[in-house]
Amino acid sequence: MCGIVGAIAQRNVAKILLEGLSRLEYRGYDSSGVAINNETGVRAHRAVGKVQALKDKFEAEPLDGKIGIAHTRWATHGKPTEANAHPHFSGPDLALVHNGIIENHDVLRRELKAKGYEFKSETDTEVIVHLVHEALKSEPNFVQAVKNALESLHGAFAIAVTLNDENERLVVARQGSPLVVGVGIEENFVASDQLALLHVTDQFIFLEEGDVAELTRDGVTVWDKDDIIQERPISVFNHNVDATDKGEFRHYMLKEIYEQPTVVAACLEGRLSHERVLTSCFGANSEFLKQVENVHIVACGTSYHAGMVAKYWIEDMANIPCTVEVASEYRYRKVAVPKNTLFLTLSQSGETADTLAALRMAKELNYLTTLAICNVPSSTLVRESGLTLLTKAGAEIGVASTKAFTTQLTALLITSIAIAAEKGELSDAKQAELVQALRSLPAYLDAAIKQDSTIQVVAEQFANKHHALFLGRGPMFPIALEGALKLKEISYIHAEAYPAGELKHGPLALVDEDMPIITMVPHNVMLDKLKSNLQEVAARGGELFVFADKDTDLHSEEGVTFTEVPKVDAILEPIVHTIPLQLLSYHVAVVKGTDVDQPRNLAKSVTVE
Ligand code: G6P
Repeated sequence: MCGIVGAIAQRNVAKILLEGLSRLEYRGYDSSGVAINNETGVRAHRAVGKVQALKDKFEAEPLDGKIGIAHTRWATHGKPTEANAHPHFSGPDLALVHNGIIENHDVLRRELKAKGYEFKSETDTEVIVHLVHEALKSEPNFVQAVKNALESLHGAFAIAVTLNDENERLVVARQGSPLVVGVGIEENFVASDQLALLHVTDQFIFLEEGDVAELTRDGVTVWDKDDIIQERPISVFNHNVDATDKGEFRHYMLKEIYEQPTVVAACLEGRLSHERVLTSCFGANSEFLKQVENVHIVACGTSYHAGMVAKYWIEDMANIPCTVEVASEYRYRKVAVPKNTLFLTLSQSGETADTLAALRMAKELNYLTTLAICNVPSSTLVRESGLTLLTKAGAEIGVASTKAFTTQLTALLITSIAIAAEKGELSDAKQAELVQALRSLPAYLDAAIKQDSTIQVVAEQFANKHHALFLGRGPMFPIALEGALKLKEISYIHAEAYPAGELKHGPLALVDEDMPIITMVPHNVMLDKLKSNLQEVAARGGELFVFADKDTDLHSEEGVTFTEVPKVDAILEPIVHTIPLQLLSYHVAVVKGTDVDQPRNLAKSVTVE
């Protein structure tokens, strides 16, 4: 989604802003722009496509100055053209960048046109900059003028504005879209996320909903939603800075796949004793584990698939009902909340607009408590949830989520075991066995990754395919959904997933030699049923790609490509079987030559509805 960077410094900020934009590329965008404010006025470059195109413009015609704002745009209102790229201007001296959506932009546009404003873009953003310009006519104080203009806006947004006058400063505001201030020495910065500023600072102030802030070289003043000045705390960034470095890997996605044994180990650390899950990992208030009688899981995308796996674990181990729903659906319906229901959100970023809206709605309902399983400690979701379990995957840059998913599954397994044990549904011996299995998970993930070169060869068979069908049973069904999502996200092959038992109810009609069928075969009670499903496919000339352990007795033969996955405890199968599917999608995308880390049209963090 759109990304914002801004800087006010004693030095030329052009390079800082361009580097910030490069660091935001992972969020997904289709055009970019920078405005630099110096004694000659505010001047901008904009470009469609990659940030490199913008850098080329700076190379050809440098813009120097000590105050500036910059933006990567993910088109919502109006195509990705140069005219629609931010910054937008009102007059020569006032420029603005914006992330989010202004819902009443049509009405505002009509009103502003009636006042004589000319619009140069199709964006909703342009109304904001004209509103600020209009407000400045009656309110000479720049910060106050911005505050006045914001009062007319409906929707979710984060903005950064610069005005060429004698008071050098940036004004920024947050209402529904994330914004973080970076604190430096005699220089200050702003961005949509910390990663964009790690080259200049590790000290951050997280703006809260409704905050407006003024950034000068010497300080940051923050007004809250009630217009009262607040001292917001400064946090020091403690992720590994190298997260933004690909190291020896060709793509971030591959690096993140390979990091999984390490980050899953980090996710387990401090959360298990020799024989038990340590309930202290949920914070001081872990009483909810005993009381919970129902679980409602709400999430989007890959996180939603992790939630679907957890439903099997929670119902099986803790013997309580669990529902899983996508946040964009949940937030717009009337939800029945049985007594003692836990509201559980899953999110890598903690900034997904629909998941946040669902949490805010849930907080008005009669839930036992709200628990966020999230990867970003400083995120809005973490700050607004009652309880948090961090996944500790480290920064994930590839748009297609990999290590965030397996660490979510790990955290969900910890949560499921804790609930089951606290409710007396799990014997001590069984809990000790599960904890033992969890401890071995990093080593199994490592073993699964060792199949990389085999899977790379398998991937070549997908180069000319246009469709693929993924089948799974039980908790492997959500893994099949996740496998299909990965393949379509980065290789643009149309992929669908079905519970294997549904094959005869429709998808079998699609099966022929052009339709590869991918299936993960767990070694459990469903094995024989799944083998029959595979026979049904083979009998129709379908090409099968089977991922299974040796004990399943499956092997490669005419029309069947068998890839071995390590044999693991049944509870770990969904997590370990995810690895070959990630690697398959990755290598298919590489074979097809797509932009693996920044697939077309997609955003890493979906901060608008
Ligand atoms: C976007 C990303 C997905 C992610 C989903 C939910 O669509 O491209 O990878 O699964 O948002 O994001 P969250 O940060 O809430 O997990």
